[in-house]
Amino acid sequence: MLLRLRIPGLLLLSALIFGNCSKPPEEPRPTHEESTSHTGEIIFQTRCFVCHGREGKGDGPASTGLGATVRDLTSRSWQDSTSDETIRSVIRNGAQAVGGSAAMPPNRDLSDLQIQSLVRYIHALRK
Ligand code: HEC
Repeated sequence: MLLRLRIPGLLLLSALIFGNCSKPPEEPRPTHEESTSHTGEIIFQTRCFVCHGREGKGDGPASTGLGATVRDLTSRSWQDSTSDETIRSVIRNGAQAVGGSAAMPPNRDLSDLQIQSLVRYIHALRK
């Protein structure tokens, strides 16, 4: 009985996480050093949305129980109060590096171009 109840939840979660994999990619995936106009979006919708949500509002499927509130990246007041430098540092080194929470993990595998593209994508989320 318990198992039966759990399976639909798991399927839903898998669909949320892997749902996009079935769509054919619009263009070849960028390699490590390449950056196209979609790079930031692709990375965000692959690894950031789980916490930050599809639209960046901080309401992703893994946004609760982290011990920290996931930043609403669409917030005007936050966007106005931060800098590209800070955003780049948070993405690369995690929020702890700028005095924030360890719940925002580092992304040391991303290249400068990929991070810059994410910064542009984050600015485009501004409401
Ligand atoms: C495991 C959940 C999680 C993932 C995955 C995650 N974040 Fe975050 N992020 C957080 C949390 C929690 C905060 C708030 C940290 C704080 O306020 O100290 C945050 C904060 C931020 C901030 C704002 C930092 C500030 O100065 O207030 C930015 C920008 C950000 N994340 C970008 C990203 C990007 C880009 C990715 C993907 C590469 C990403 N995050 C992936 C949880 C996550």
